[in-house]
Amino acid sequence: MRSQQAVPPRDVLRGRVAVVTGSSRGLGFAMARVLGLHGAVVVLAARSDDGVAAAVERLRSQGIAVSGRRCDTAEPADVEALRDDALNRGTLDIWINNAGTSGVFGPTASTPVDDFTRVVRTNILGTFHGARAALPVFLEQGHGDLVNLYGQGDRGPVALQNAYASSKRWVRQFTETLRLETKGTGVRVHGMNPGLVETELLGRVTSQAGYEHRLGALQVVVGLWGQNADQAARPIMHLVTSDAAEFRFLTRTRLVTHGLHNVLNGRLRRTKRMPLAVTLVDPDQRP
Ligand SMILES: NC(=O)c1ccc[n+]([C@@H]2O[C@H](COP(=O)([O-])OP(=O)(O)OC[C@H]3O[C@@H](n4cnc5c(N)ncnc54)[C@H](OP(=O)(O)O)[C@@H]3O)[C@@H](O)[C@H]2O)c1
Repeated sequence: MRSQQAVPPRDVLRGRVAVVTGSSRGLGFAMARVLGLHGAVVVLAARSDDGVAAAVERLRSQGIAVSGRRCDTAEPADVEALRDDALNRGTLDIWINNAGTSGVFGPTASTPVDDFTRVVRTNILGTFHGARAALPVFLEQGHGDLVNLYGQGDRGPVALQNAYASSKRWVRQFTETLRLETKGTGVRVHGMNPGLVETELLGRVTSQAGYEHRLGALQVVVGLWGQNADQAARPIMHLVTSDAAEFRFLTRTRLVTHGLHNVLNGRLRRTKRMPLAVTLVDPDQRP
């Protein structure tokens, strides 16, 4: 991990094809944009047809070579079809397992079963399906960059967010294992923890009733250490042009420097805080 990364040349990814899952909005869209602006042909994917079509249109209007398809990463057949779409663009060089979702905020004991399952299907199975689709191609050609998205909990427990946090811990171990298994093959496997990014994932939260008051601090924390998606996406260029094992935004140094920077810029003022929409579920209604 490096704190200062050299700016890569504008066309450093020319001739390469990059798949980004979960790229109709948020961080995935921003990473696809950065890769495309550096010359890659990008293939977008998400579950909403309309969301994908709109994202393709936005990138195309910025001069990026882009296509997209509907894909639920929890479904292996969808992910294989996505891989085949990329190969139809000529090659497959970069695969970003970005699609991710958060769970209902609250204690594990009263977490609805279907909610926990939803998080596992996207964050765990989706990451496995992406790796299983991309790696055989990478191994056969002797090169390729696979990036998996870490997140809060990747290094330890987080109370009231067990589904999300433990899924990200799993992603870390899975990624480190793939790195061992691909050593010496030319294939590079990386992890990325972008810190706090102002996207729907953070701004639209579902909470078990009775726990929503604990979310109050989230806006302050995001005010201190959050970034917009375009800022958070930039380090993807460092990962896919190096053999770095991981990028982590919130290092001890950045907790101080970025926090101080945001305080001085008034990011903690109520008017500048990220809007937070909280939907409540009644834990007693659980299946
Ligand atoms: N935001 C943060 O602060 C933060 C921090 C650390 C890590 N991360 C990680 O960064 C990644 C992106 O997060 P984000 O904040 O950009 O989230 P987001 O704004 O909610 O966007 C998620 C994207 O993934 C798609 N998606 C969700 N489930 C999917 C599935 N099963 N198959 C395919 N696409 C799916 C969504 O579109 P559809 O709903 O149409 O499918 C959307 O395009 C996640 O892995 C997240 O855990 C985020």
